[in-house]
Amino acid sequence: MIEWTREERYQTLETFPEAAYSALEEMVTSSLYRQQYHIQPPTGLLNDPNGFAYFNDQYHLFYQWFPLGAVHGLKYWYHTVSDDLATFKNNGIAIRPDTQFDSHGAYSGSGIVVDDELKLMYTGNHRTEDWDRKSYQLLASMDKDGVITKSTSPVIASPPEGYTEHFRDPKVWFEDGNYYAVIGAQRNDETGTILVYQSKDLTDWSLISELKTDYTNFGYMWECPDYFKLGDMDVVLFCPQGVDKFEDKFWNIYQSGYILGTLDKETFEMMHGEFIELDNGFDFYAPQTTLDKDGNRILIGWMGLPDTGYPTDKEGWAHCLTLPRVLTVEDNKLRQRPVPSLKKLRGQVETAEGYATKKNVKLHPYEGKQYELIVDVLENESTEFYIELRVSKKESTMITYNQSERRVTLDRFDSGLQPTGVDGFSRSVVLDSDLSQLQIFVDTSSIEIFLNDGEKVMTTRIFTSSDATGIRTSTESGQVYFKFTKYDLIV
Ligand code: FRU
Repeated sequence: MIEWTREERYQTLETFPEAAYSALEEMVTSSLYRQQYHIQPPTGLLNDPNGFAYFNDQYHLFYQWFPLGAVHGLKYWYHTVSDDLATFKNNGIAIRPDTQFDSHGAYSGSGIVVDDELKLMYTGNHRTEDWDRKSYQLLASMDKDGVITKSTSPVIASPPEGYTEHFRDPKVWFEDGNYYAVIGAQRNDETGTILVYQSKDLTDWSLISELKTDYTNFGYMWECPDYFKLGDMDVVLFCPQGVDKFEDKFWNIYQSGYILGTLDKETFEMMHGEFIELDNGFDFYAPQTTLDKDGNRILIGWMGLPDTGYPTDKEGWAHCLTLPRVLTVEDNKLRQRPVPSLKKLRGQVETAEGYATKKNVKLHPYEGKQYELIVDVLENESTEFYIELRVSKKESTMITYNQSERRVTLDRFDSGLQPTGVDGFSRSVVLDSDLSQLQIFVDTSSIEIFLNDGEKVMTTRIFTSSDATGIRTSTESGQVYFKFTKYDLIV
C-alpha cells in the first residue's frame, strides 16, 4: 500500500493545485484496468455505496470518495444517477467534508425520500487536535434540482453511554409513522453491534436499544448495517470486522453478510438463522440496498475491501461498485440475481454446445474482456470441471466445480497482478444443489459469478495483461455437456 502522510490524506480537493489534479486524471484515464460498465471513481479511491434511492424519477447512488489518490483519505460523497440501474451517469460531488462535524470525512449513510426531497443521513467523522475520533450523525437534504443543503448541527451528537466513537453508517427506513435508523456500533468492551434509533421527523432521534441478535461476541465492530423486510422475512445486513476464518468461510479481511428471521419491533430482538456471507469471492464489502420503482429490493456493494492494496493504487485510483443485484428470499435464504435491465447492455451473441473433457480446449471465437457468459451445465459426468476465464499464455482465472462435494472454487493465483494483504489465492463455496448454471459478468478488471440462478455469488477483481481474453474448459476426468451463451456488453 502507498504510504501517505496525515497531511496528504486530509488535503481537500478544493485546495489541491489544478495542474496536479489534471495530471492525476490523465494517469487514471490511461490505466489498463479501467472498467467499461461498472461504476468507478474518476480519480482516487471509491468505497461504500451511499444514499441509494429512487427519487424524482431516477435512481440516485452516491459513493464514498477520496479524490486525490488511492488511499482512505478525506472522504466526500460522489453522486451518480441512473434511469434503469444498468447505466449510471456521473454527477459530481454531492457532499463535501466542509463543516466542523464532518471535517475529517463525510462518512457513509443512506437516503430516504420525504415529500419533495431526498434526505441523506450520514456520519460526520471529526478528529480532535489529539487525533481522537468523534462521530456525529448528520442530515442533508437534496431538492428536485439536485441542490443539497446540510443541516447545521448533528441530529445525533454522540454515541450513547456504553459505546465507543466507532458509531457510524446510519441506514434509515420509515414504518408505522416513525423513522428508524440502524447504526453500526462498538460496545465499550470492543464487541460490535447495531443500535436502533427512532424519530418522528428525522431530526430528533432517540435510542431504542441494540438490535439484539445471538451474535453477542462476533467481531470488534459492525459497519454498514441495513434492515429491510423481504416477503414475510426480516433481513439484517452488516459487516463485522474481526471474525476468524473457519473452513470455507470468512477468508476476507472483513466480512459482509446477513441474518434472516423475525425482528420484534417492540423489543428489537431478532430471531434468526446463521450469518451468511453475501458474496463468496474476494472483493466485496459494505453493500447497501434500496427499493426500485417496482418495489424490488436492490443491493449494490463495494467491489473492494479496506486495508488491502490494489495494483491500480500506483495509478492514482482504486475500486469500483458491483453490479446491482435483485434480492429475494427463497427456501429461507437470500437469492441474488443481476438486475434484469443489464440485458440492455447485451450486444452481439454467440452460442455453442459441446462436451468438455480432460483435454483443455479453447473456445473460439469466445474471446473478450467485457462480456456476459451464461454456462448451462446440461449433463455432468466429470469428477471436477474447470472453466478458465481471461486466459493468456501466462494467465488464467479458474473456476473449479467438484461434483462430489458440490464445491465451487474461484482461483486467481494466475490472474496477473495481485492485490496485497489478501489471505490465499482461492475462495470456495458449497452449493445446496448441483451446479446447473453460471452467469458470469466479465469487465476489464473484474469477474462476478452468479451460481445456480443467484444461489451464491462470487466476485473478484483481476489485473491481467490486455491479451488475456481467452476462455478454456476441461475436466479432471469424465465429461460435461455445456451450453455457452456469450454476449458482448456495450455501454
Ligand atoms: C466501511 C467504512 C464505513 C465508513 C466509511 C468511511 O468501508 O469504514 O464504516 O463510514 O467506510 O469511508
